[in-house]
Amino acid sequence: MRVIENNTYTAPSPGVLKTSASPIEDQHGRTFNYLRLALNEKCNLRCMYCMPEEGINFRSEDKLLSIDEIFHLLELTSEMGVTKIRLTGGEPLLRKDLFPIIQYANSMDGIDSIHVTTNGLLLSKYIHDLEESGVSGLNISLDTLNPKKFKIITRRDGLDLVLNSLHKAMQSTIQSIKLNVVGMRDFNDDELMDFVRLTKENDITVRFVELMPFDSHQIWKTGKFYGADHILADIKNQVSELKPIDGSRTEHHIFRVDDYKGKVAVIPAYSRSLCGACNRIRITADGKLLNCLYSQNEINLRDAMRTGKTDMMIKDMIYGTMKKKFKDGWEAQNQGNDNRESMTQIGG
Ligand code: GTP
Ligand code: 5AD
Ligand code: SF4
Repeated sequence: MRVIENNTYTAPSPGVLKTSASPIEDQHGRTFNYLRLALNEKCNLRCMYCMPEEGINFRSEDKLLSIDEIFHLLELTSEMGVTKIRLTGGEPLLRKDLFPIIQYANSMDGIDSIHVTTNGLLLSKYIHDLEESGVSGLNISLDTLNPKKFKIITRRDGLDLVLNSLHKAMQSTIQSIKLNVVGMRDFNDDELMDFVRLTKENDITVRFVELMPFDSHQIWKTGKFYGADHILADIKNQVSELKPIDGSRTEHHIFRVDDYKGKVAVIPAYSRSLCGACNRIRITADGKLLNCLYSQNEINLRDAMRTGKTDMMIKDMIYGTMKKKFKDGWEAQNQGNDNRESMTQIGG
């Protein structure tokens, strides 16, 4: 295991009432053990709800966390009680050092599971590397099973590649395979049952995600928003035997159909009825800490590391930021205007 060099601790930091091994908690009784770490902003798709066709002003590589800075943050946060890591992006498979990062996290005593959220385009190519590096789960984004619609939503061809990746992922030894389907009215609301049927013979979780307002073109204002309650009602109208079961903390509604092998879930990402169970810490690809997906308040951990702040100071920044987390994503959003151009600047 890598030894982290401790700079000399010069000034006592006022907020430090915790030992460096205390759990990360807020004032609403939540504990944070799940780190979502974005590895890059770039993506090989251009989903309408995420990025404009021409892309965004991507930050240059020197602004992004280096592999050593990532190792450092993984060490610090695991010492603070993080046990679950999710690597996001942009598209994390575009980052060349993805596998050493996974291997490193996998070698850490405190980390129980390492997950990757991917658009699936490159996944089939790297599935063996992912298996070997010790990934516990893959969440694959796929909003339609129709090639024409795939091209409309992602502005690229590639449905066959993603389906092939899904197939390979299901055949692999990777434990958890999930599909994220962003639900959109008059776009894929007629495909709910096609996705649900995928859970009949396959032990995967199909998750319908509410559209969120994180793209500069605000397509979510164009009548496509499809709320969790409506998605749920539409599924229930078409399926008689839906048994509630347990799922992850974003899977606010989760069911199994009959004796199907997989699960079906709805994620109220916009309605935010999931906030009471929030256990997430977010770090963007350029090293900013966010205590909520809807927060505008970014704490610069990258510069803290680059200017030689001690581990204790950086931990204090993390404890302090998470402590101040608002009750829910609505309160967080009310603190400031969103000036981001794309979800990839947050990491999802
Ligand atoms: P699991 O660990 O498998 O439950 O995955 P996850 O849902 O935490 O992660 P994933 O990256 O697959 O995200 C699925 C969808 O949920 C994406 O659209 C995310 O933006 C959204 N999401 C993830 N975390 C949060 C959150 O804390 N709040 C809200 N509102 N949405 C979230
Ligand atoms: N609304 C809902 N989900 C989104 N994602 C990206 N942008 C949005 C949005 N505006 C999803 C992707 C992927 C996950 C990381 O976030 O589809 O599944
Ligand atoms: Fe947590 Fe904010 Fe997401 Fe709510 S919106 S679940 S508080 S990150």
